[in-house]
Amino acid sequence: MDPFENPFAPGAGSRPPELAGREAVIGDAKIALRRSIERRSAQSQILLGLRGTGKTVLLNEIRESAQQAGHLTSFVEAPENKALAEQLYPHIRQTLRKLSTTEAAKHQALSAMRALRGFASAFKISWGDVELGVDPDPGTADSGDLELDLSDLFEAIGQAALKAERGWVLLIDEVQYLEDFELAAVIVAVHRMAQRNLPVMVFAGGLPQIAKLSGDAKSYAERLFIFPKIDALERNDASNALIKPLSSKGVDITPEALDIILDRTSGYPFFLQEWGHHAWNVSELSPIGVDDVNRATEHALRRLDNGFFKVRFERLTKAEVDYVHAMANLGRGPYGVSDVAIKLGKDQRALGPRRASIIKKGMIYSPSFGDVDFTVPLFDDFLRRTNRSAGARP
Ligand SMILES: Nc1ncnc2c1ncn2[C@@H]1O[C@H](COP(=O)(O)OP(=O)(O)OP(=O)(O)O)[C@@H](O)[C@H]1O
Ligand SMILES: [Mg+2]
Repeated sequence: MDPFENPFAPGAGSRPPELAGREAVIGDAKIALRRSIERRSAQSQILLGLRGTGKTVLLNEIRESAQQAGHLTSFVEAPENKALAEQLYPHIRQTLRKLSTTEAAKHQALSAMRALRGFASAFKISWGDVELGVDPDPGTADSGDLELDLSDLFEAIGQAALKAERGWVLLIDEVQYLEDFELAAVIVAVHRMAQRNLPVMVFAGGLPQIAKLSGDAKSYAERLFIFPKIDALERNDASNALIKPLSSKGVDITPEALDIILDRTSGYPFFLQEWGHHAWNVSELSPIGVDDVNRATEHALRRLDNGFFKVRFERLTKAEVDYVHAMANLGRGPYGVSDVAIKLGKDQRALGPRRASIIKKGMIYSPSFGDVDFTVPLFDDFLRRTNRSAGARP
């Protein structure tokens, strides 16, 4: 059918034609956002899920709801090798500029700018001093201890937002790339917001393996945040993710063809978009049937093998490739760390650094103590199917 009319949206963060099965997460977020702006207690959220399950899409959705509820929003993607302080700086500056345009909030916004200037010099953020055009406020947000300073800064922003009768929502994607102390600082700052009853919330998304929290941050996180699990879609929701976009274009799919897609994709959102996209393109006429879907599978696998899977695979070193192959050769995960070691004929402890490095790259995670699994759904199938070693760095 006409590719121009194709309703599906495969791709990182692309809004799907039908956002299936996420009503509860979005509903909770909307209530929390409305409560926050009314200064009622509200829980921030950290969405946890594997690659391609729809976390970024949800954060964008929450961002829109936040704006509709009257919040200012800042969206950052935690980079692998950049300090959070540096990443936040331009977003906070912009938020404060916006707040300062409201007469009632001008004074507070200016004092928050002064706090930001102190923060910029404490964390050696270049151009911070020159750009802000205000004097710092010694003793505010400038100690160099991120936990204290981020809390001071959030408080200053919260006070300004309050005067403007707005709120501020910080969204952090790829939160697993934050250092432990950075995530702890964010959580402690959110705790300060709750204590001061200020309209500031954080919504984050990331792989199930996030930083290990300890001490105050751990106990605050348990009370202040909810951690919705963003998983593959239930069969009914997965069907809707395909059927609704098709029927909006007047196209049907046979129940047998639909079943094949649901089995092949295991309901993972990214794969549903991919299969839907190809099934549309290869079909001549409605309804889409089994033959069409079988052809679509060939296209989808080829594209995944050369894209989604390949780019992730190519980030591994030769030794890491051996490790993930050993995992895949054990069948379906999760895999006992000791079983992988036996498969490789190596001592389990000696493999610790290698495993840690693959976890840091976001390829595998530890679903429970002593186990590892892939963060990319169906990656084990890919490894067995292609048995690749080429392309990996030595
Ligand atoms: N609820 C949903 N229903 C149908 N399709 C969805 C849904 N959520 C996301 N998708 C589709 O899944 C794909 C992946 O979404 P997204 O990039 O948000 O995932 P992610 O969890 O952020 O992945 P990653 O961990 O790789 O960043 C996109 O093509 C998107 O359109
Ligand atoms: Mg994402």
